Amino acid sequence: MSTATSVVKRERPVIAIDGPAGAGKSTMAAHLARRFGFLNLETGAMYRALALKAIENDLGFEDEAALLELAATTKIALRPQMEGNIVLLDGVDVSRRVRDKDVTSAASQVSIHPKLREWMVEQQRKLGVAGGVVMEGRDIGTVVFPDAEVKIFLDAAPEVRGNRRYRQAMPGDAAERKVTEAAIIEDLKERDARDRNRQDSPLRPAEDAVILDSTGLTLDEVLAKAEAIVHSHIG
Ligand code: DC
Repeated sequence: MSTATSVVKRERPVIAIDGPAGAGKSTMAAHLARRFGFLNLETGAMYRALALKAIENDLGFEDEAALLELAATTKIALRPQMEGNIVLLDGVDVSRRVRDKDVTSAASQVSIHPKLREWMVEQQRKLGVAGGVVMEGRDIGTVVFPDAEVKIFLDAAPEVRGNRRYRQAMPGDAAERKVTEAAIIEDLKERDARDRNRQDSPLRPAEDAVILDSTGLTLDEVLAKAEAIVHSHIG
């Protein structure tokens, strides 16, 4: 794996935000990006986009060789917006589709494969090589940019994350409204277990990450703490 990060001197810092699903990473990334004039990049959307293509091509999520072949002919682009990213899969806007339940589950399964992760990490390093980015995911501070100037590991109890997701889903379509809070929490726990226990790049805080647990904090409190962390690292 090339280590572009170690040979190219970045002009601007990288802010890495990692943590489990539903912890509020995207909200934090978007806020910090606006606050500091950086681009926000949601790396999970890249795994989601490839998972969608696997679904469309009827590929098994366990077949790493086939997934890699698919990746080689796939173009995934992230366009940072004020909130989140527009996701382009081979030039087509799939931003909404990649948030569906089937793609969410597929992304979690697809992301366990080491060679596929290598491919993703390479793309992500290219995106952040000049710095000036808030990059959000599971392995940004540990693998993608281990030399990131700021690393935040955002965590919260599964029940709290599940409850937030449930409330977000309420204005969604009828199918989403039928999903109970308990089912969402179970689903999060299942994804957590897969993310934390996979062999390659498991979800864990980097040694030099600041751990921020948002259980019991309001959104404003979490964002204020995140800003303070960034200030204390890069002024
Ligand atoms: O952040 P998200 O929910 O959009 O991520 C979708 C899936 O991709 C999630 O199950 C974990 C995986 N992922 C990963 O393994 N590494 C990343 N840097 C980002 C996401």
